[in-house]
Amino acid sequence: MKSISRSVTSNQLTVHDDLATVVNKHLNSEFKKPIAAHTTDAYQAAIAQINNRKLILDSGCGNGKSTLAIANQYPDAFVIGIDKSSHRIGKLSSHNQSDAAAQNYTIIRADLIDFWRLSANDNLQLHRHFILYPNPWPKKHHLKRRWHGSPVFKQLLKLGGQLELRSNWPIYINEFAQALTLAGFDSRSSKISMQQDNGITDFETKYHLSGQTLWQLTANLDISSNIKV
Ligand SMILES: C[S@@+](CC[C@H](N)C(=O)[O-])C[C@H]1O[C@@H](n2cnc3c(N)ncnc32)[C@H](O)[C@@H]1O
Repeated sequence: MKSISRSVTSNQLTVHDDLATVVNKHLNSEFKKPIAAHTTDAYQAAIAQINNRKLILDSGCGNGKSTLAIANQYPDAFVIGIDKSSHRIGKLSSHNQSDAAAQNYTIIRADLIDFWRLSANDNLQLHRHFILYPNPWPKKHHLKRRWHGSPVFKQLLKLGGQLELRSNWPIYINEFAQALTLAGFDSRSSKISMQQDNGITDFETKYHLSGQTLWQLTANLDISSNIKV
């Protein structure tokens, strides 16, 4: 992927004024939207393959390049790459599901809003959770579409594990950190120093080659690390 990518532009220049109100409202309410049958099927087929291994999610995995890299990095874990776009999932030429069946990962098409809720309802606990370059939804009125502004944020937190979030929009990282604080979790944010031009995802490579600064946030979401509990 060699195309040039422009930095995120937004009519929002700092953390959203309504962040705390929105996050607190979602942390204190139930998310009742019905769950789509196709995600339930994909979820059940994926978790049937865990076989007592540690579980890692690559949420919004795009073409799955990062899912393969993570599976190689954690050979004892089982990695599920999830994306709602069949177009993106279909793009990685080195990936095919029959190979995946013999290995320690699978890549599925599903909506994360439903996948995370199903996982949280089943009390699944993650070893690690990667959310790499989520759509920033940078317009001010898009706050509730960002993961930390969404009603599903509570379920995302319930999944636990070591979270790694990456973004090319620092406001996304700052807002996510503040949302975690409201929920009782500490986090660390830093610039990513790229050692080479080949990123863990194609978006990372594209942003890096376009000269953009990239950011990451890490947090331990295990309930024992929650300072409010
Ligand atoms: C900017 S792309 C990044 C993809 C990949 N992580 C990368 O860095 O190359 C964001 C991805 O999130 C996926 N996505 C957004 N909302 C989603 C949802 N509700 N459920 C599943 N995937 C979603 C999109 O389809 C898209 O592939």
